[in-house]
Amino acid sequence: MPSEAVDMGGYTLSDNAPLAHRNTLRVAARAAMLAEIRDAAKLPELLDFPAVRSGRLQVLGEGSNVLFTGDFEGTVLIMATRGVQVESDGDSAHIAVAAGERWDDFVRWTLGHGYAGLENLILIPGTVGAAPIQNIGAYGCEVAEFVESVEAWDVRERCVVTLDHATCAFAYRDSLFKHQPGRYIVTAVRFVLPRSRPLRTDYAGIDEELRRMGVDKPAPFHVAEAVVHLRTRKLPDPAVIGNAGSFFKNPIVDAAMAARLKHAHPELPVWPQPDGRCKLSAAWMIEAAGFKGLREGDAGISNRHALVLVNHGQASGPQLWALAQRVMQGIRERFEVLLEPEPVVIGAD
Ligand code: EPU
Repeated sequence: MPSEAVDMGGYTLSDNAPLAHRNTLRVAARAAMLAEIRDAAKLPELLDFPAVRSGRLQVLGEGSNVLFTGDFEGTVLIMATRGVQVESDGDSAHIAVAAGERWDDFVRWTLGHGYAGLENLILIPGTVGAAPIQNIGAYGCEVAEFVESVEAWDVRERCVVTLDHATCAFAYRDSLFKHQPGRYIVTAVRFVLPRSRPLRTDYAGIDEELRRMGVDKPAPFHVAEAVVHLRTRKLPDPAVIGNAGSFFKNPIVDAAMAARLKHAHPELPVWPQPDGRCKLSAAWMIEAAGFKGLREGDAGISNRHALVLVNHGQASGPQLWALAQRVMQGIRERFEVLLEPEPVVIGAD
């Protein structure tokens, strides 16, 4: 039986806690300890708590980018801090946002206050604190472009640090935080957002959608509305069917490999990268290999978008992970390309 959450002032603790409603894949795992923190200043005290200090730690925002493959024997830490603070305003604004704010709420707040930049990133599930970790991106934009710095608790050095943009080492769905897992607990993100900037409307159907909406001079909120239409049409809603967005990253390969694949599969979408390598569409390969819409028990690959692993109901973490691995193996055999999961897979070897 889970214990009642005990309020410690600024954070709560409970043990043997269910996680099914705390991850968007709706995996029914449990955490030996669950800590929910509302006051980031209490983080050192919470981390010193004997039951927390003695085991592993996994930070969760909305749980929209994790797959639990079993129960978690350590502490799951939910960042539930709130606050949006405009530190200076002008042609650009510097805005500090608490890690626990919902990303989509923040994007809508920026649009409502006349700041540009985040319109293409509307409707992405998850929290502000999680955004820099995997450098969330969609429709030709990545959050990194607008991140000035990240404030975090450095678990190793036991101090608060401010990591500037360069230190964060952002890349496609990647950052310093992914390379040093467990070292930093993001407590706030500082953004720089302009009042206006050229809009990105050339990616993946935005222009067509704007035309359909009858908009010929788009403002950021029009682009956001177009993205909402596209995402709603293409991606399964985690509130309706359990999923963690794209489960696989688009693989990046060298130019020679991309040319070979393009020759063999002329339809394969290939996007040249600034460093000369090429990003390949994982969704196209998964669909071409026949996995789109596949279902094994309650674990499935969405029939709306081939990158999305879905839980049709009662799929367990191991069942979902087994299906994901089957897809990865199929793509390796058919295209000689290694797919990597985008979410954090917790508990897998
Ligand atoms: N495609 C297929 N089959 C499908 C889906 C797509 O063949 O089932 C093809 C499309 O025809 C298109 C190409 O794949 O030519 C790319 O599709 P899409 O524009 O949907 O983008 P994506 O590369 O598959 C990425 C992000 C998404 C983001 C979209 C739109 C990754 C891993 N995923 O997907 O991000 O919404 O672009 O910008 O980079 C997420 O990270 O959770 C996520 C949903």
